[in-house]
Amino acid sequence: MDKRAIGVFDSGVGGIAVFKEIIENNPNENIIYLGDTKRFPYGNKSKESIIELTKNGIEFLMQKDVKEIIIACGTATSQALEEVRKIYNIPIIGIIEATVKYVKKENIKNIGVMATVGTIRSDAWRKSILKEVPEAKIINKACALLAPMAEEGWIDNKIAQLTIREYLKEISKENEIEAVILGCTHYPLFKNIIKKELRSNVKIIDTGEILSKELREELTKNGMQNEENKPEYKIFLTDIETNFKNVATKLLQKEDIIKNIELAKI
Ligand code: DGL
Repeated sequence: MDKRAIGVFDSGVGGIAVFKEIIENNPNENIIYLGDTKRFPYGNKSKESIIELTKNGIEFLMQKDVKEIIIACGTATSQALEEVRKIYNIPIIGIIEATVKYVKKENIKNIGVMATVGTIRSDAWRKSILKEVPEAKIINKACALLAPMAEEGWIDNKIAQLTIREYLKEISKENEIEAVILGCTHYPLFKNIIKKELRSNVKIIDTGEILSKELREELTKNGMQNEENKPEYKIFLTDIETNFKNVATKLLQKEDIIKNIELAKI
C-alpha cells in the first residue's frame, strides 16, 4: 500500500476528463492535478517547448511527493513522454500506450484520430498503432480550434457543432471507420456532438477511461494502491482564471472538488 497521491498533468482543463475517470476507477487514490493554464495551449507549440513545459510540470508534481505521474495531455504524451521517462525516476504514464493496447485487444483496424496540431504533426498515434496492428488504416485529423473552444466553455453550442462537422468531414465519409480516438484530453467535452456526427456504430474511444483502468491494474499489481477510503484531491493551476472552474465543473459534476484551486508558481 502506498498512500502518496497520483500526479495528473495537463496544459489546462482537458486533463480533468482524465481526473474524473481516475476517481471513478481508483476511488481511494489521492490526486494532485496540475493544469498549466499560464502556458496553454500546448497544441501549437514546438516539440522542444512541449518537452520543456512537461519537465516543469513533472518537477512540480515530484516536489509534491506523488507516487506516479499521469500525463493527461495528448500533446505532451506524443512529444515529451519518451524524453521525460529517460530523465525522471518515477513511473510516468501517457494516454497513448493503454489506448493502443485496447485497439489491439478489440481488433479495431479502421480508426480516425482527432488531436491537436502538434500531436498530429508528431504522427505518434499512427506509429504506435501500426506497431501493434500493422494492417490498421488511420485517418489523422488536426483540430486546432477544439481545445481553445473547450477552455472557453463553447462545448455545446452551434459553433461547436459546425466546427466539429467540418473537422470530421473526411472521417465521417469513410464507411469503414470503426472507431474515433479522442487524441486530445479536451475532446471528451465534445463527446455528444462528435457522436451525433458519426454513424451510430462508430465507437468513440475516450483515452482517460482506458488509462485509468490500466492505472488500477498497475497499482494493484505493484502493491501501490491506497487502501484508505478518504481520498484528497488538490488542484493547482499556473494561472488562476475563472473559466476553468465552469468547464471543470461540467466535466466532473462535483463542485466541491473544484472549489479550492491553488496557484502553482512555476
Ligand atoms: N489537452 C491537451 C491534449 O490532450 C491539448 C490542449 C492544448 O493545446 O494544450 O493534447
